[in-house]
Amino acid sequence: MNLWITCMLFLPMFKYRTKEFFYYMVSVDEVLQTLSTVIDPDLKKDIVSMGMIKDLEINGNDLKFTLELTTPACPFNEQIEQDVRQALSKIPGVSKPDIKVTAKVMEGRALSMDEMLPTVKNIIGVASGKGGVGKTTVSVNLALALANTGARVGILDADIYGPSVPLMLGMGKAALEVENNKLQPAESHGLKVVSFGFFADQEHQAAIYRGPIISGILKQFLVDTNWSDLDYLIVDLPPGTGDIPLTLAQTIPITGIVVVTTPQEIASNVAVKAFGMFQKLNVPIIGVIENMSYFKCNNCNTDHYIFGKDGAKRMGEKHDLPFLGGIPLNPGIMESSDSGRPVLVTDPNSPNAQAFMTVAKNVAARCSVIASQLSEEMTAEATT
Ligand SMILES: Nc1ncnc2c1ncn2[C@@H]1O[C@H](COP(=O)(O)OP(=O)(O)O)[C@@H](O)[C@H]1O
Ligand SMILES: [Mg+2]
Repeated sequence: MNLWITCMLFLPMFKYRTKEFFYYMVSVDEVLQTLSTVIDPDLKKDIVSMGMIKDLEINGNDLKFTLELTTPACPFNEQIEQDVRQALSKIPGVSKPDIKVTAKVMEGRALSMDEMLPTVKNIIGVASGKGGVGKTTVSVNLALALANTGARVGILDADIYGPSVPLMLGMGKAALEVENNKLQPAESHGLKVVSFGFFADQEHQAAIYRGPIISGILKQFLVDTNWSDLDYLIVDLPPGTGDIPLTLAQTIPITGIVVVTTPQEIASNVAVKAFGMFQKLNVPIIGVIENMSYFKCNNCNTDHYIFGKDGAKRMGEKHDLPFLGGIPLNPGIMESSDSGRPVLVTDPNSPNAQAFMTVAKNVAARCSVIASQLSEEMTAEATT
């Protein structure tokens, strides 16, 4: 009898507790459904179906998981994390989810089983219509900016006629070792580097090299180098549409081409020709970078658009090419590049370096988009 009374007394409390318990208990379904309302602004897909939620653990109302972005250089890193937290705040009882944000770079290349360079996830060719537009300056700072975000980056200086990557990285001549028939790249500021410029004789003889010899050298530098695991390999191409750009486009699958141009070059339509060849060869165009876009005055801290504004943007819109950003014309960029101390290394928080960071994030975001399209195409092919 006593027991019965005790039970009656405590039952309402138990019922209340049970209700409270069930009401606040978070389910995996609920969490995933909530997270699937968060859309990656670049990929235009929800983060759950993109497989970005990893190691989800639910312990009562405590949530723990890893948010794996498609590149450490994602321009929307903070926004996505903020959207995730905001979405989760709508689930009753979840107060402070424990979220670890990491990144795993997507493969932007169609790799098959016997592919060459399987450990390099993305190859980005940097091209231009003419010389002197700052292609090497952009390649070097782009590589350093990507490496600053935590990505593993290499740079191949394929400009046989004017290899200036070693100069801009302050490297001089490096004696590259050969191990197991593979060239070991040199290292500078965390980048793996191979350049035609390391080989003095080749540099002097470059002018007399033609077609097949040039193609052979490029293939060797690409394929017979121990690049090891890289997220991005930047290839600084010679200007124009000669043997080297053609060989790069035809030898191995690459993620795409970045075209560097200046406002004056746009006016003369030379840049359009540079990406025209790659488009004909079905090489994706990552986008256009406008170098020397505006003059950044150190004294008045104003941007002067000496050669007109938004030229590359308009060219991009006309030809359906993403605009990746503009880099200022600034003596600081010239002095640091030409003395082998790039702005990304000497002054990473300066406006000049930040302009390169913005461009690098846009490049990485485009590589993720290309990779995602590629993986969709491959899935579609596999299921037909
Ligand atoms: N944004 C810039 N501001 C000032 N000088 C620049 C800028 N970009 C490149 N330069 C300078 O212009 C010259 C040519 O640049 P470089 O990168 O060698 O061009 P390319 O590789 O297209 O021939 C170099 O002296 C370089 O320091
Ligand atoms: Mg150059």
